[in-house]
Amino acid sequence: MADAVVMQGVSKQFRSGGRWRPVLRGVDLVMRQTELVVVSGRSGSGKTTLLSLIGGLDRPDEGTISVAELDVGRLGDGELERFRLETVSWVFQTAGLHPLLTAVENVALPLRIRGTAAAPATRIAMAALEEVGLEARSAHRAHELSGGEQQRVALARALAKQPRLLLADEPTAQLDSGTAQGVMTLIRSASHVGIAVLIASHDPALVEMADRCLWLVDGHLV
Ligand SMILES: Nc1ncnc2c1ncn2[C@@H]1O[C@H](COP(=O)(O)OP(=O)(O)OP(=O)(O)O)[C@@H](O)[C@H]1O
Ligand SMILES: [Mg+2]
Repeated sequence: MADAVVMQGVSKQFRSGGRWRPVLRGVDLVMRQTELVVVSGRSGSGKTTLLSLIGGLDRPDEGTISVAELDVGRLGDGELERFRLETVSWVFQTAGLHPLLTAVENVALPLRIRGTAAAPATRIAMAALEEVGLEARSAHRAHELSGGEQQRVALARALAKQPRLLLADEPTAQLDSGTAQGVMTLIRSASHVGIAVLIASHDPALVEMADRCLWLVDGHLV
């Protein structure tokens, strides 16, 4: 199978305080389809920037990024929209669920947006909730769930799309270690079924379970 991610010579700079500051300076990265990679690095080293470029939320100044054989930096607006709906999923530090929707409605939402009819979307969403052990909570609204449960719903939402790549930005930062362990185990099994996983995190327990851990230092991935 083709590599999930191929980045070559990716650079990105931002303007701040009247001058351009390089954040990434020629980053190369190749990820296999079943690989789980953790990127660590001090605050401000560019971890979120790296994930945003790979996820098509921003474009690199230089270099190429291919995800599932799509040249992300050169997709047109419509193709980019489809890439975000179909190819990549995100998990963030906070679950970001819609407070007025139930767990199953939250999980089904991205499927509905991309055109799946209501009945199959609900079926897929229920199966995803089962995967994360929350089928009994499917009818609860987000605010009726604990933080750890909300994060598991967010993970179910990310995985229900069957993406090629899961991008996770500090997914366990707000969880206690026991709850974090549960979320990590679920993320690990996602990579075993063929979803490449790229995590930005300082969490030593996440680093421990990774296939590879890389560090962002002075704009370089080492
Ligand atoms: N859209 C932007 N405009 C200007 N500067 C930005 C932008 N996004 C990020 N930066 C700057 O780029 C640098 C890297 O930010 P980034 O969020 O990628 O770091 P990080 O490694 O994720 O940090 P943290 O561990 O705190 O989440 C920071 O100095 C930040 O201020
Ligand atoms: Mg960050």
